[in-house]
Amino acid sequence: MEKLVIRGGAVLSGTVRIGGMKNAALPILYACVLVKGKCVIENVPDVRDVTMSIDILKDMGAKITRTAPTTYEIDCTDVRPGTSRPELVRKLRASYYLLGAELGRFHKAHVSLPGGCNFGGKRPIDQHIKGFEALGAKVTVETDEETESGSVDCDAPDGIIGDDVFFDTVTVGGTMNIMLAAVTGKGNTMIENAAREPHIVDLANFLNTCGAKISGAGTDVIKIRGVKELHGSTYAIIPDMIEAGTYMIAAAATDGCVKIENVIPKHLEAITAKLEDVGVIVEELDDAVIVTGRGQVNATRLKTRPYPGFPTDMHPQMSAMLTRAHGTSIVVEGVYENRFKYAEELKKMGADITVNGHTAVISEVDALHGAEVEAVDLRAGVAMVIAGLIAEGETTITNIVYIERGYDDIVGKLTALGADIKKIDD
Ligand code: EPU
Repeated sequence: MEKLVIRGGAVLSGTVRIGGMKNAALPILYACVLVKGKCVIENVPDVRDVTMSIDILKDMGAKITRTAPTTYEIDCTDVRPGTSRPELVRKLRASYYLLGAELGRFHKAHVSLPGGCNFGGKRPIDQHIKGFEALGAKVTVETDEETESGSVDCDAPDGIIGDDVFFDTVTVGGTMNIMLAAVTGKGNTMIENAAREPHIVDLANFLNTCGAKISGAGTDVIKIRGVKELHGSTYAIIPDMIEAGTYMIAAAATDGCVKIENVIPKHLEAITAKLEDVGVIVEELDDAVIVTGRGQVNATRLKTRPYPGFPTDMHPQMSAMLTRAHGTSIVVEGVYENRFKYAEELKKMGADITVNGHTAVISEVDALHGAEVEAVDLRAGVAMVIAGLIAEGETTITNIVYIERGYDDIVGKLTALGADIKKIDD
């Protein structure tokens, strides 16, 4: 079994370059299904969720060539609907983008229910289904309680017909899936209470370069004028704000000074504001931020919210840093039903955390100590890396495939910043 071993205490310094955003790359890869022709996608991160998605698309008949470490040529002309391999699709959440993409291109879709990080609470797709139905599709979900597996079937024999879709809850995946289904539909679609994340804008920009007519992405009302078909294009994915935020916290937590390059500082505003709030210096440049620690950070209160609020994908990392903050911090999860499975792991390292429903109370301890801990999901796993960096002694992290789903070469990047971290195969 592969593990990460970290010896804590290093003060991070130097420069780290951020890769393309996983959560933008995934929908854009699946969006290629809508295009009869060749798309060239640049700045694609080298992470497991991307590799699995490429495998899923190849299985379905896509011709995909990696022409450079972060560039893929993708031709989905010969893709066949309903041919994604269930055992692969079930491994990642983003495979649900195949529903919107197949429905948009073929007016029918058949996809196994998606997997992805298990946060300990429900992750329904009822809003995606409600949206597809509003666009004229008949949706059938089959689930097997015993095996917890199942599939979703969508059928729109009269084609996709634009309409208004009002989401009851702000959903990133739902917003993107409806965009995918509607771009080549008949007439106009309006998504209200849409998610506003930068990756929604990135998907809209990609689709527009392929000939789609989407406006309003980045606001809570997105308008889509259906077009007959999409053509191929060349597109570069935006930088990953969560990878950037993770290195910002690693720098701050170790009291280091790190320049984080290839970022869009605007996307990092909620993270920057929270770091400044706890006493860290963040200097914004055009496409970089420099994070400088100033000794022990102060405690804070934070609540995760959809963009532009503090991202849910950043709170485990923040909690790891706050274990050593001066005073008592309160972290409230405002997006998911539960995302605190990592608290038990941090406790193994000496952290003082109490979780009650959606709230974690983190009280100051003098030091964390190394321990064997598990990456219980992607961001929880990287929170263990941050805890390991500030702990006394050696920390071993198991189940690191979760971390590799979303972080490209984390060992190489942290080592270059001075961390004592290695991957071992036990
Ligand atoms: N929700 C519903 N019904 C739906 C859809 C969502 O109730 O039909 C609820 C969810 O249960 C959750 C909330 O709405 O409580 C938000 O879920 P959302 O749909 O926005 O999340 P997602 O699309 O499943 C994506 C990212 C997540 C990230 C969230 C929130 C991908 C592949 N995943 O998930 O990324 O946490 O948006 O920003 O893009 C990660 O990268 O670590 C990760 C988990």
